[in-house]
Amino acid sequence: MKDHLGRTIEYLRISLTDRCNYRCIYCMPEEGVVSLPHEQILRIEEIAHLVRIAADLGIKSVRLTGGEPLVRKGVVDLVRDVANTPGIENVSLTTNGVLLPKMASDLKRAGLSRVNISLDTLEEDQFAYITRRGHLHETLDGIAAALEAGFDPVKINAVTVRSLNQDYLAFARLSMDRPLHVRFIEYMPVGDSAGVAGCGWGPDDVVPNEEVLETINAQAREAGLPELVPAGGDSPLGWGPARYWEFPGAKGTVGFISAMSNHFCSQCNRVRLTADGKLRPCLFSDVELDVRDALRRGDDEGVRAAFAEALRIKPDEHHNKVGTERNMSQIGG
Ligand code: GTP
Ligand code: 5AD
Ligand code: SF4
Repeated sequence: MKDHLGRTIEYLRISLTDRCNYRCIYCMPEEGVVSLPHEQILRIEEIAHLVRIAADLGIKSVRLTGGEPLVRKGVVDLVRDVANTPGIENVSLTTNGVLLPKMASDLKRAGLSRVNISLDTLEEDQFAYITRRGHLHETLDGIAAALEAGFDPVKINAVTVRSLNQDYLAFARLSMDRPLHVRFIEYMPVGDSAGVAGCGWGPDDVVPNEEVLETINAQAREAGLPELVPAGGDSPLGWGPARYWEFPGAKGTVGFISAMSNHFCSQCNRVRLTADGKLRPCLFSDVELDVRDALRRGDDEGVRAAFAEALRIKPDEHHNKVGTERNMSQIGG
């Protein structure tokens, strides 16, 4: 599928739920968001059917997101269904990791290809502050469970926020001894994080990835460690917007998602589906196209028409827009 600017669109991000067992400060207000009413949420079978239509149109990769996708009942069945859909080459998941110790091996058996796990700090107190209700060991146990279940690659997503003062080198060093791919993500002004409900995004809180890289290398030099070099080889990591570096001899890599300082919109390959059945052509644009009614009417042509329209109106770039109507927890990143 090509959009109106000739970009190849073959990656669909599906938000399975707007609910989450955490309340990360940049993602949701403390009280949570008013959850979507049950009947408005696409059923698992409806999502599976949409994926079949999308695969016919040319979607090859599917990523399941949330909120927290693993709190959605039926997620393992959905993974199996999507993985078995002709045309779908890989199905991946972005999670906070809390439920992985319970679910990782079932997900692997069901055909999940890859897991990305969100982790923004390695300090217990800061973890509790950021997630508002989490404990560091939960996510660390989730990472161990993903590796144990045989997922490769396992990526770690660390959103950088200047006022949090994270230890970048400690993060980057997670890639040394285990095949972990740590990605630093520039803080984006999505949803309430744009200050609308006090989650506090401000331009001063964005740490340009260039600076993160320089800080890691300066810290490494001070500690007598080697510096990061651009990752070589034919990386299995190249589907998304991250650019990868590595410590010589390390088992994993260190990636940078520079959504603010060097956006990658001209190479964008994706569209999104929200839990309530709207196609969202861009993370930053609130223009959405309903597919739920068509799915419920059994109108496959209507679903295809919505995809065609999404490609026709997909914005060229985010134009440094600040704030969106929906929170990150409702869009899925
Ligand atoms: P892979 O590279 O395929 O593993 O996935 P990914 O990095 O695209 O997915 P993930 O869910 O781990 O997201 C990592 C970060 O990239 C999150 O902060 C997302 O919000 C961000 N991201 C994903 N897609 C887009 C996009 O189209 N535009 C922007 N600006 N950010 C995105
Ligand atoms: N900016 C950048 N990344 C974000 N994420 C959540 N909110 C933001 C934001 N405002 C990340 C999460 C998760 C991924 C889906 O998006 O940490 O890893
Ligand atoms: Fe939940 Fe992830 Fe949002 Fe944190 S960032 S509240 S873990 S969906």
